[in-house]
Amino acid sequence: MSVPSIDWSTLGFNYIKTDYRYLSHWRDDAWDNGVLTEDNVLHISEGSTALHYGQQCFEGLKAYRCKDGSINLFRPDQNALRMQRSCDRLMMPRVSVEQFIEACTQVVKANEHFIPPYGSGGSLYLRPFVIGVGDNIGVRTAPEFIFGVFCIPVGAYFKGGMKPCDFIISDYDRAAPKGTGAAKVGGNYAASLLPGAEAKQAGFADCIYLDPLTHSCIEEVGSANFFAITEDKQLVTPRSASVLPGITRLSLMQLAKDRLGLTVVEGDVRVDELSRFTEAGACGTAAVITPIGGIQYGDNLHVFHSRETVGPVTQRLYNELTGIQSGDVEAPAGWIVNIPGSQQA
Ligand SMILES: Cc1ncc(COP(=O)(O)O)c(C=O)c1O
Repeated sequence: MSVPSIDWSTLGFNYIKTDYRYLSHWRDDAWDNGVLTEDNVLHISEGSTALHYGQQCFEGLKAYRCKDGSINLFRPDQNALRMQRSCDRLMMPRVSVEQFIEACTQVVKANEHFIPPYGSGGSLYLRPFVIGVGDNIGVRTAPEFIFGVFCIPVGAYFKGGMKPCDFIISDYDRAAPKGTGAAKVGGNYAASLLPGAEAKQAGFADCIYLDPLTHSCIEEVGSANFFAITEDKQLVTPRSASVLPGITRLSLMQLAKDRLGLTVVEGDVRVDELSRFTEAGACGTAAVITPIGGIQYGDNLHVFHSRETVGPVTQRLYNELTGIQSGDVEAPAGWIVNIPGSQQA
């Protein structure tokens, strides 16, 4: 076991080789029990469908150190279910919810010393994936598959406090109307690299995608979901078959309704009607809640609450969500899988 010398205060979102990762193989119509390995290099056939035809999917979730030394996984069952839907869409075998959570738990325990301390703002990011492997050349589903989970410690998303960011509406689409937008598959992210790079080049945090059919409604904010707040206490978030159904978004919808007394509306967010919102934000596992300062659309920069300060509803949602994740605020039933820490009294 290596003892990491990590400066938790300067951690970003970068690959760091941790000690153990979980690997399970699908052969003869079943997943094997899976093992933890120290080897972070995969040895796969050059004909693997994951390499040629994008037959792969992945997930992203976090483990948080709590005040009492235990560790919280935030809604891993929801990531497992979403990965099953991604596997269905790409004709890959499902991993059971039980095996998914077991794999994540084993990886967290085996790499416990990489979990940033309570209060540092950091967390352990888990990256489960399923890839099609084995000798093949035709466009068809793979003969074998690998399910893996690795982890990296990541820093606080907001260094020096939560600050609004500006975004720009993209001319590109990340997914087709009846394509794979709702699945967490690599092809969507490959399609987003150029638009994302162009947005950053132009000085924005990321780009915003419009619906691919009519280009009139907001769909997603880079690799996060969009939400906005109205004067009359609604939380509005896009409903679309090509948006990735985020677990942070799902959670905020419930917290907004049950704990903040907002009305939750899933519907169209027309890009020419942004003035009906008093606040807007991007939400996701990596983005947590990023307040949207302004949105550039053509020549116009539409500013919501402020480009400097966080809106009051966004702040309350942030406090509630991050409090639940780190165990300081009571979680709705079934949201947390708590893992005992090895140093716990
Ligand atoms: C395209 C896209 N949309 C939305 C999200 C937010 O999803 P979640 O809240 O499950 O992280 C993500 C991140 O996983 C994403 O990549």
